[in-house]
Amino acid sequence: MCGIVGYIGEQCAVPILLEGLAKLEYRGYDSAGIAVLDDGTVEVKKQKGKLNNLVNSMNGFYKEAVSGIGHTRWATHGRPNNENAHPHTDCTGKIAVVHNGIIENYMELREWLISRGHSFKSETDTEVLPHLIEELYQGDLVDTLQQVISKVEGSYAMVAMNAENSGELAAARHDSPLIIGLGEGENFLASDIPAILKHTRNTYILEDGEVARITPREVNISDSQGRPVLKEVFKVQWEQGQAEKNGYPHFMLKEIYEQPRAIRDTLAGRVSLDEGKVTLKEIKLDEEKVSQIDKIYITACGTAYHAGMVGKSIIESLARVPVEVDIASELRYRDVMMNENTLVIVISQSGETADTLASLREANRVGARTLAVTNVVDSSIAREAGDVLYTWAGPEIAVASTKAYTTQLVAMYLLGLYLAQKRETIDRGEAVEIINNLRELSTKVETTLQNGEKIKQFAEQYSNSTSSFFIGRGLDYAVALEGALKLKEISYMHAEAYAAGELKHGTLSLIVEGVPVVALATQQHVYDKMISNIKEVKARDATVLALAPEGFTGIEQVVDEAVFIPEAHPVIAPVLTVVPLQMLAYYMALQRGCDVDQPRNLAKSVTVE
Ligand code: F6R
Repeated sequence: MCGIVGYIGEQCAVPILLEGLAKLEYRGYDSAGIAVLDDGTVEVKKQKGKLNNLVNSMNGFYKEAVSGIGHTRWATHGRPNNENAHPHTDCTGKIAVVHNGIIENYMELREWLISRGHSFKSETDTEVLPHLIEELYQGDLVDTLQQVISKVEGSYAMVAMNAENSGELAAARHDSPLIIGLGEGENFLASDIPAILKHTRNTYILEDGEVARITPREVNISDSQGRPVLKEVFKVQWEQGQAEKNGYPHFMLKEIYEQPRAIRDTLAGRVSLDEGKVTLKEIKLDEEKVSQIDKIYITACGTAYHAGMVGKSIIESLARVPVEVDIASELRYRDVMMNENTLVIVISQSGETADTLASLREANRVGARTLAVTNVVDSSIAREAGDVLYTWAGPEIAVASTKAYTTQLVAMYLLGLYLAQKRETIDRGEAVEIINNLRELSTKVETTLQNGEKIKQFAEQYSNSTSSFFIGRGLDYAVALEGALKLKEISYMHAEAYAAGELKHGTLSLIVEGVPVVALATQQHVYDKMISNIKEVKARDATVLALAPEGFTGIEQVVDEAVFIPEAHPVIAPVLTVVPLQMLAYYMALQRGCDVDQPRNLAKSVTVE
């Protein structure tokens, strides 16, 4: 939620800030702004709407300035308009602040500041920050920021500048990500790596409670007590091209097509067919600890939660341990029965999702074992979990998650097999069969991607529908939920996922002539039941698009359109089934003229609860 950038050095700050913001627009895009320091004064420019509005309004705005801060916003407090856009300033206009997160006690701080004579221009929680700095300032910006953070409650990554301390920027974080990019004679700040990758691979990752003084030549970090902190340089391994579109019209399409590579990378070095074994060197759970686990919770949000639903089914069937899947925003406020024999698996692409992080902290607090599946190295969730299993999807920029989801599924297979091996609940023959299927998976995804044209035609035909349904049983139901979410998210078409056997308990009344129904039928043991459910909707004149493995012949005769995916072990089918659903959402969104990569009201990294 919200992207922050900062620059201080010898180059013109404005283009660096704008380029950085463009790389962070996925974090929020309802307004954007920058502040630069020029000739002893702070100059601010902000515009509501997408970053392009700001770019088009620059007209040579302070192009000589060599330091500045920038922000792209996802509104929490106050509508998306110019006044509420960041940076926010104090009464004198000398201090400017950008912030990502929520200041929970902003109302009382605002009232106190008003009683001290400050006047506010916006409805935001953030605006208390520059006023607090103004109120507490005694000559040193970083010292002041230390005092400010001792007064604020909530989550923040913030960067401040003050005309009176022109040679430096000050930054602090608590529960929202912030990295410092280390250059030569220049330094950078950003919420995420893509914003600085063009300039440097050397970074410091700011931890909760840390405050930084950034000058062109130095970065000094202190903890919440003001004691100096010696940081290790974290070297970013990504290639810059990974964060670019590489000729694709949208990041989402590029990321859909990157799935075979992402799956290969996530499996690399972790499965051995000869030994019939999964090796997860990074996981510290040995036989003894695994044998003590009597209950597993999987918790996550959105798409990651859907991956967790598949994970439940796999872990229960392979490792024979009861698994509950919980939405993180629910689990954190539930009186969950966890103890040292509980394993809590958190799944998060970004590793920063506020509710998932809070659930992880709760699990750690009660002494449960915790394991994170995440795509972002050294993210908050990765740092705080007992164990981490990384997905190697590479940077995912489109708001709609695609390759992160399929690699999360791969992580679930790996974990299921790993736990089953340790618990001795799987025989070698079955393990070899699943591992073999995993090794063939990326090639099969490549084959599945060839269905693009057929899916596109279906999308063109039904793009005017107002509502759609996704049905399936067992693992297919979990994938149906993901397919419906994807469609809603980027095409704004209403979509509902139903366990196919449940339709007749109410929802069937919505199935009328022409309503598109996507039916997933990949699970052999319930195939006949699924065919009956498809016939039920066909009898109400729905238009049915079915997804089934090659070899499930006959289904094409009962539906309007059938897309066949390569045959695979039934537990692997979700990875193959979801690919056409991602494409369906993509083409539907294109057809309906939606902004595929940046759907309305959403943001990539949800660092507020
Ligand atoms: C949907 C989507 C979201 C995320 C959710 C959790 O396409 O991407 O539903 O899955 O916001 O995000 P992470 O995985 O970063 O915790």
